[in-house]
This record gives sequence, C-alpha cells and structure tokens, in this order.
Amino acid sequence: MPHDENQPAGDRSATAAEEGLRRSAAFLIDEALGFVFPAALRAAADTGVADALANGPATPAELAATTGTDARNLYRVLRLLATRNVVAEDEHGRFTLTETGQALRSDVPYSARNAVRMLTDRTFWLPAERMAHCLTEGTTAFDGVFGIPFFDHFARDEETAAVFHVGMAAMSDPENAVIAAAYDFPETGTVVDVGGGHGGLLLEVLRRNPGLEGVLYDRAHVLAGHRLDGDKEIAGRWSTAEGDFFAAVPAGDVHLLKRITHDWDDDQCVTLLSHCRRVVHPGGRILVLDAVVPRDNAPHQAKTLDLMMMASLTGRERTEADFAELLGRAGLRLSRILPTPTVLSVVEAVSV
Ligand SMILES: C[S@@+](CC[C@H](N)C(=O)[O-])C[C@H]1O[C@@H](n2cnc3c(N)ncnc32)[C@H](O)[C@@H]1O
Repeated sequence: MPHDENQPAGDRSATAAEEGLRRSAAFLIDEALGFVFPAALRAAADTGVADALANGPATPAELAATTGTDARNLYRVLRLLATRNVVAEDEHGRFTLTETGQALRSDVPYSARNAVRMLTDRTFWLPAERMAHCLTEGTTAFDGVFGIPFFDHFARDEETAAVFHVGMAAMSDPENAVIAAAYDFPETGTVVDVGGGHGGLLLEVLRRNPGLEGVLYDRAHVLAGHRLDGDKEIAGRWSTAEGDFFAAVPAGDVHLLKRITHDWDDDQCVTLLSHCRRVVHPGGRILVLDAVVPRDNAPHQAKTLDLMMMASLTGRERTEADFAELLGRAGLRLSRILPTPTVLSVVEAVSV
C-alpha cells in the first residue's frame, strides 16, 4: 500500500494493520455467508430442478412451470448455483446442467440428490446453529433441539428416518465399490456389515468376492429398506440380522464398521468394538472404515464432518493415534491403515 513519507513510522504500521483487518473482516463476512450456498443447493434438490434440466437447457420460466416454482426466485437460486458450476447460464438466459450438476439428478447412477437433502436436513442444520453449546457445555446440541438422541429420533420419526437412511445410502454409493476393491478380503467366510444401513457396501463386497457370505446388521426399521434383494450375483449368500450393536453383534470372519465409530464417543465405541472382538472368528479382522484425520492445517472433509458429529451426535472423527488407543481399549490391535481413493481409510484391527 502506498504510504506518506512524512507520516511517522508508527502511524504507517497502524494504517497497514488496519488495512489488513479490513481485508480480514471482509474475508470472515464472506465465510459467514457460506451457509447460503448449501441452502440453495438444497432448495434445488427439493424442487427437482436438475431433473427438469435433464433434457437440455431451459429458461427459469420454463423450469418454474415444470417444477411448480416461482420463476423469479428460481432464477436467483440458479444464479448462485452457477457461481459454483452446478448450472451455467447462456446468453439467452437459459440454464444448462454442468457435469457437476448432472449428479443432482435423481435418475443417474451415484445421484447426490438424496445425500444433499440428508446433509442439509434440520437434524444437522439446527444443531450446527447451536455449536457454541457444544463448546460451553461439552455435549451434543442435538438433544436440546430435538429432545432425544440422534438415532432414537429416527426410530420415532419415519419421515426424517427416510431422509437420513436414503441419504446415507446415496452418500455411500460412490465410495462402496472403491472401498470394496481397496481391501483383499479372504476367499471364504462371513462378512458382517455392522450398522450396514441399506447394504450398499456389503453388496459390493459380495459381488467382488464370490466365496464370501454376508450378514447385514442394523435396526429393523433400517433393514426394511435394504437393497440386497434381486441381485443375482449375490443370491443365496446374504442374510439380514436386526439388533442393537451395543447389546450384541453377529459372529463372522470380517466385521465392517463403515461410518460407525465416528458417530459415537470413545466409551460407546469400546463397547461396540469389544462385542466385535468377542465374536470375530480366530484369525478374523475388524475393519473400521472411517476417515483418519490428518494432523495438519489443510482442509479435509473429516474436519467438517467432525463438527457435524459434535453438534448432532456424541462422536468424532479420529486421528491414527486416536484409533490405536481406542482399539487398544477394546482389546484389539491396529494392524495397519490402508488409504482408499475416497476420504475413508481401512483401519484394520485384530484381536490382541
Ligand atoms: C452413519 S450410518 C452408516 C451406514 C452405513 N454403514 C454406510 O456407511 O452407509 C450409521 C448406521 O448405524 C445404524 N445404527 C445406529 N445405532 C445402531 C444400533 N444401536 N444398533 C444397530 N445399528 C445402529 C444406523 O441405523 C445406520 O444405518
């Protein structure tokens, strides 16, 4: 910044410091506005705008007619989405789906539409707004908002449960096959997917490993939506088991826990992992499939998810040292960590 030679040095540095603060304030204000983009993305997901654009470019008025929305407000949402390359506006005022935007359609493989709706659902959004509570009280904000813990809420409220479990399956879809390919499973034996949701991961593991059998273990209301039926490649090799993984876990040779330990605090994880240790067959493995938080200042999705876990659940994302300690407390040994092309790693544990 140019400075006045006649100005005393102290005043000059005060001016430079002020200029730095002005820029910093502008940056923080911009960051604070960051919540609006996911809200717009969610509005687009809710109203099915991407499906309406599947057949080619359209004006906001045409899209509004198809989606039953207000044309002027739809335009405003699309204009913001265009700034992050979800859609693009041409010189005639027509919007097109970009390659990124294609994944917001509901009729494409790996559709992110339900995942967007789940991640921006009030079950995450409202507790996040009260994150300071987690700092002052050291507890989750969810129970104060909803009056009941996260997963108990889903057992009671079918509509929210559907948003979560369908959304969770959609979030997992792009990573399941990649994770199944990242690990050398034994040729024979039983894989138990603990808290396996709708079974997307188990499906991929069984497809890749024709000598394996699988058990999908979860709550009854979740298993009701599973998708293991009707796949010829795995026919006759799978079963479901309903239950509470804090009470018991089915026996097997490989236990998968994908995005499970990050939901729970250390004591809860020790209970769950100890159940797995007790029932894993000799020579078996327990595979914790979660992000391993890097110890640096760089952005990583796990650092964001970690705060969602803090605000809505009792869990957290963990570092390698955290996993080693946690597994040790459950009578297990961390044998190795295999990165995958997704944000998740395979944290392999064996009985001590
Ligand atoms: C974050 S989701 C992960 C689902 C799946 N593993 C995936 O990666 O897509 C957590 C899963 O744990 C299940 N779960 C939560 N509490 C449970 C309990 N006490 N017993 C059994 N399953 C439970 C939920 O129903 C849900 O399917």
